[in-house]
This record gives sequence, structure tokens and C-alpha cells, in this order.
Amino acid sequence: MSGHGDPIPMISERGGPLSGEAHVPGDKSISHRSLILGAMAVGETVIEGLLEGQDVLDTAKAMQAFGAEVTDHGGGRWSVHGVGVGGFSEPAGVIDCGNSGTGVRLIMGAMATTAITATFTGDASLCSRPMGRVTDPLALFGTQAEGREGGRLPMTVTGAREPMPVRYTVPVPSAQVKSAVLLAGLNAPGRTVVIEREATRDHTERMLQGFGAELTVEQTDEGRVITLTGQPELKPQHIVVPRDPSSAAFPVCAALISEGSDVLVPNIGLNPTRAGLFETLREMDADLTYENPREEGGEPVADLRARFSPNLKGIEVPPERAASMIDEYPVLSVVAAFAEGRTVMRGVKELRVKESDRIDAMAQGLRAAGVAVEEGEGWWIVEGRGFGRVPGGVTVESRLDHRIAMSFLVMGLATNAPMRVDDGGPIATSFPVFEPLMTGLGAKLGRA
Ligand code: S3P
Repeated sequence: MSGHGDPIPMISERGGPLSGEAHVPGDKSISHRSLILGAMAVGETVIEGLLEGQDVLDTAKAMQAFGAEVTDHGGGRWSVHGVGVGGFSEPAGVIDCGNSGTGVRLIMGAMATTAITATFTGDASLCSRPMGRVTDPLALFGTQAEGREGGRLPMTVTGAREPMPVRYTVPVPSAQVKSAVLLAGLNAPGRTVVIEREATRDHTERMLQGFGAELTVEQTDEGRVITLTGQPELKPQHIVVPRDPSSAAFPVCAALISEGSDVLVPNIGLNPTRAGLFETLREMDADLTYENPREEGGEPVADLRARFSPNLKGIEVPPERAASMIDEYPVLSVVAAFAEGRTVMRGVKELRVKESDRIDAMAQGLRAAGVAVEEGEGWWIVEGRGFGRVPGGVTVESRLDHRIAMSFLVMGLATNAPMRVDDGGPIATSFPVFEPLMTGLGAKLGRA
């Protein structure tokens, strides 16, 4: 099991207004997929704007271990010399995916239909997360997996020798599971069909098409039916990674709750399967606008302008929107604390199996900071106290979860007393420049 370094205690407190431009890093989901699909293509894929967070660096290392040549050219420009579908070689050592569920689950899928064996591990957070949701459908291809009790890492996976194509309905709304099955389907002959009842982020589908795979998507009574024709030759691509809406969420939410703020967050990917938070904030009467909306690389993009919003109101978040903002509930719950009235979040059971149990982690920290929270297995309700009426003044645990750490640091920018997190180290997994970016806007935030 890998670990993190010494804990990095951090603190944030109320200060002047936030202003200026926040250039957030590249999209984490697209960064992982660029490296993995690049490794499965024949020839050289060039990636610009790759997120150089630890999660993605671990995936880059893994792709090298499977035989691809991965080169960092500096300034976010990387190249991957791929080995082709079915071309992975057996790694010599254990594959350590660190904190990344996306990394490990997608890579397991990508190697599942090649006759090699690999052992996967990760940090304490990742080793506590369920892998059966991926290894169960991979078993249908003929893949074998042996892990710890409850399907936990460390786990050894042996790829199918003679993979069969699969038809699989994903039982939980999970882009990671869907993607693992599609990546495994790449090296199975014939058609692999994946059905999802609720649409989740569709980057794998879009990118597979971009790499030249035959893939169709149909909306039927069963749900979204994705059909992939196996054993294509993937063509190397030039990818410009859009900036991550899930990272943009932090400076946006910080501006909404910090008096006098006006922040521009340029070039944010607004793929509808990812942009649910921004829609929700607007329904809460946030002063959040999309400037200069345009299309880039087939994805909708805009500059987000967020201004201080003293009259936010709590709302009932439509449960059908959950998948499009699943990583944003922690920071939404912070904004909800500064709104008038209750914010109701339902259909979010998946939050219990993220890098931490995010409902529990946020509920405990919010309560300690003076905010009432009710919760059940798949729902929670935050009782807003209104602007200027959230006490704060406590230390909360980040639980090896980057988004929990960043959410409470954003909260401290507007609570009556500072907020501390016990360990900001995990922030480096997805948003390594969080601290300088936020202080650059004027936020009083840093190492304690
Ligand atoms: C991701 C899918 C989501 C999300 C994660 C990234 C992806 O996880 O929470 O941060 O890139 O496919 P699930 O598939 O488990 O919902």
C-alpha cells in the first residue's frame, strides 16, 4: 500500500474580495483517458494541457509499465507512443495508482482482455474502495481478479486469453465502470454493448470515436446503449485537454461567498455530463455567468464569471442531475451553508464510496462549524444559515480526499472564524496549484 508524505495542515480565513482570473488545470477525466487511449493507439499521441496532478502522473507511470513510451516535454505537453489494442506487455512490478479510482479502474479495463497479469495497489483511501463493480463485468470477458476481502486492492488481474464480447447494463451510475467495460471491449472480437440507465460523463465515448473506433450511442427505453466494435486500430491523436470544471468549482464557489468578489475562470469545459453544479448554483440565485460560449475540440467551452452573491437561496437539487455534478456536492454543501433555507441533495449514494465517504466527511465538518446537516444513505440536507452567519473556527479531517480539503478551505474564506484542515496534501492529486491560484485571487489561505 502506498502512502502520502507528512500531513500538511492548512488554514483559511475571511479577507478582502477575490478578484482576477483563475486559470485552473486540465480536466482530470480527460487527462487519464488521453494517456490510456494514447497507449492503446498505434503511434504517437500528443497531449497538450495534461493535468500534472499525482493521480494522472500515476496513470502515466502505469502506461509505461505496460510498455508505452510516455514523455513529458514540459509546460503540460506530453506524448505517448502507443503499443496498439492488445499490445500491452506484462508489467515487471506492482502498479501503484495512488489515490486514483479512475486510474485503477480504467487501467484494469484496458488490460483485461490481454493475456497478461498485473497487480494493482494504491493508498489507504483507494485500498478501501470497492473494485468488484469493475471486476464483475470484466469477468464476463473471461478476466480473473483476486483481491482482498470485499474486492479491495491490492488485487491481481489476469487478462482473458480468448475474450468474449459482452453486453452489460451498468448497475450504478458510474463512468468509471462504463469506461472499464468499453476499454476491455476494445480487444474483444465483435460488439461489446454497455447500457447505462442514467447518463454519466461521456468522455470515453467521445474520445474513442476521436481515436477512430466504431462506437455508436442510442437512447432507448433501456437507457443509453453504447455499442463498440472490437479490435479497431486506434489512430494517434493530437489532444488539447480542456480545463477541469470540477477544479473550476472551487474558485467559482469561493467568489460567490466572499464579499465583493468578481472572478473570471476562463476556458472551462461545459460538457453537459459535467456542468450540473453551475446550473444548480444559478438556480440558487448565484451571480454566475457564461461569457464567450464557444466549441473547442467538439466540447462546449465558456469563460465563467462568478461574483459575490449575498442572497443565495437553498434549493432541492434535481436527483437526475446528480451524475453531472457528482464530484461537486462537497463544495456545493459549503455554498449551501451560506444560503437562506435548506438545500436538499438526493440520489447521491455514490458519494459514500468516493475517495472518502463524502456525505459523512462533509456532514461532520459542517456540523462542527455550526451548520445543521441531516443525512441518510443516499441523501443529505444542509440547513443554510445565510451570509455572515456561519461560525466556522474548527479543524476538520480531509480523510485523504482532495475535494474535502479544498471544500473546507473555501468555506473558511467566509466563516466568522478561520477553518483548518488537518492535511491539505491530497489536494496535489487533482489541483496541484490550488494554493497559489487561490492566494493569487486574494484568498487568505495557506499552510497552518
Ligand atoms: C470519473 C468518474 C466519477 C468521478 C471521478 C472521475 C471518471 O466516478 O467521481 O472523479 O473520470 O470517469 P464514478 O464513475 O465512480 O462515478
